Amino acid sequence: MFDVKKEFDLSAEHESLVIGLLDKPEKFSGLLANLDEAFDGQLTELVKTGDLSAKLNKINKVHSFGKIGSKRLWIVGLGKEKELSFDKLRKAFGRLFKELKAGKQTEAFVYLDSFISEKVDGPDAAHTLSEAYALATYQFDGYKQKSNEPEKKLEQLTICCNSVDEGEILASLTVGYAFGKGTNSARTLVNTPGNMLTATDMADYAVELAKKYDFEAEILDKAEIEKLGMGAFLAVNKGSVEPPKMIVLKYQGKEEWKDVIGLVGKGITFDTGGYSIKTKAGIVGMKSDMGGAAAVLGAMEIIGELRPEQNVVAVIPSTDNMISGNAFKPDDVITSMSGKTIEVLNTDAEGRLVLADAVTYAKHHGAEYLVDVATLTGGVITALGLNTTGAMTNHETIYEQVLEASMEAGEQMWQLPLFESEKERVRNSKVADLNNSPGSEGHAIVAGAFIGEFAENTPWVHLDIAGTATTSKSHDLGPAGATGVMTRTLALFVERFEPIEK
Ligand code: BES
Ligand code: ZN
Ligand code: ZN
Repeated sequence: MFDVKKEFDLSAEHESLVIGLLDKPEKFSGLLANLDEAFDGQLTELVKTGDLSAKLNKINKVHSFGKIGSKRLWIVGLGKEKELSFDKLRKAFGRLFKELKAGKQTEAFVYLDSFISEKVDGPDAAHTLSEAYALATYQFDGYKQKSNEPEKKLEQLTICCNSVDEGEILASLTVGYAFGKGTNSARTLVNTPGNMLTATDMADYAVELAKKYDFEAEILDKAEIEKLGMGAFLAVNKGSVEPPKMIVLKYQGKEEWKDVIGLVGKGITFDTGGYSIKTKAGIVGMKSDMGGAAAVLGAMEIIGELRPEQNVVAVIPSTDNMISGNAFKPDDVITSMSGKTIEVLNTDAEGRLVLADAVTYAKHHGAEYLVDVATLTGGVITALGLNTTGAMTNHETIYEQVLEASMEAGEQMWQLPLFESEKERVRNSKVADLNNSPGSEGHAIVAGAFIGEFAENTPWVHLDIAGTATTSKSHDLGPAGATGVMTRTLALFVERFEPIEK
């Protein structure tokens, strides 16, 4: 898929030649000057007339009319050098690959040196390229009957980089591609409908992942879940004909099982709301209620590829939330694995229930740091909109590490407060230790506060991706549908993780 070359020859035959164009007042230099010469100065003319733009994200397509070996020239506007960042370059590459795909190109030659700038060196540029390539060309095939016409795919990229060692470029391409692929796997899981991805299917998927990457896998079935006393998780599953699964994957990258990071993902394969049933508009799309689980599995795939020197336990409670004569009801009181009792006030607040037991179980497996990811509340959408993940924490230092990772991954997050007053609201029940829905004010915050009751003193970050797990619009780095959000943030967080001195 990726070939790396040191030398470039303008007469080499390619479908497409790709170069980056920084917005600089000076005349063309290097390869661009050679190209301009081959085009009899026409590129300079096009810049003058404004037909060729160096504006960030502008993709200029120019036919070569046989003046060089490549049929087409794709010139990617990169804007001002000072303003060009890792994240912006990733998006510019995303836009490029979308256009190459739309233009039915199957092969391209990328002159990477022209994408290197003050803030983005060669290996980083290579990383953004391969990550953007995987992300931007992703598509979910769906289940339509297929036409016979074979689809053209952009499959071959030759990367030419004169200024950096080939091995280094290839290594960065491999890393970037792993990040993109892991995210795409998460997207596919989220795009898959609930009838095709049950808790059992998700467990099977995790076992396959474990086999491929040599993780230790533990899949708890209903009897084992009962034995461990996971009453909160079981309550949510009560109305379902599908058995629940507690999915555990362990990756050991250190000699000893210490400094263990617990990644916990909400794995509700479909959320009807239960007896606190959703509206007919609100229920559509609830196949995505396992977006947290998908992000954790996607991150585990990246971790499996890159094998960082870290220890990780992934825990995914998976079930659907259904109604039946057996289903749990408002007013029920349930006992979680931690021993804490919970008064159920709303069966649609099921995510925090399954996560309560999953967080407790992650600690049982030695997790000393916790990050949970969940499509948890409509409230986070009210608070932060559809482009920003809501975050909460009981430990600022660990939160900073997650935030850093999210910025590098280009995934926006914003912290919501965790005050005693809201903890008190979660603890307010006449009959139990906690209640699962203390009223409609600050939904996102009380949901996070509830999970915090189970994290207890373990450093913990909670990520509410209800608004960001899916998108209705296609974007530079992917199509409409599942985004795979937080997959890359989690993987980067793990890769860079520094244990906190206790
Ligand atoms: N799965 C939903 C949250 C959700 C809403 C995800 C919209 C994606 C898009 C969650 O289980 C839920 O229903 N939350 C309720 C909680 C409330 C009943 C306390 C909510 O936020 O409305
Ligand atoms: Zn719900
Ligand atoms: Zn839910």
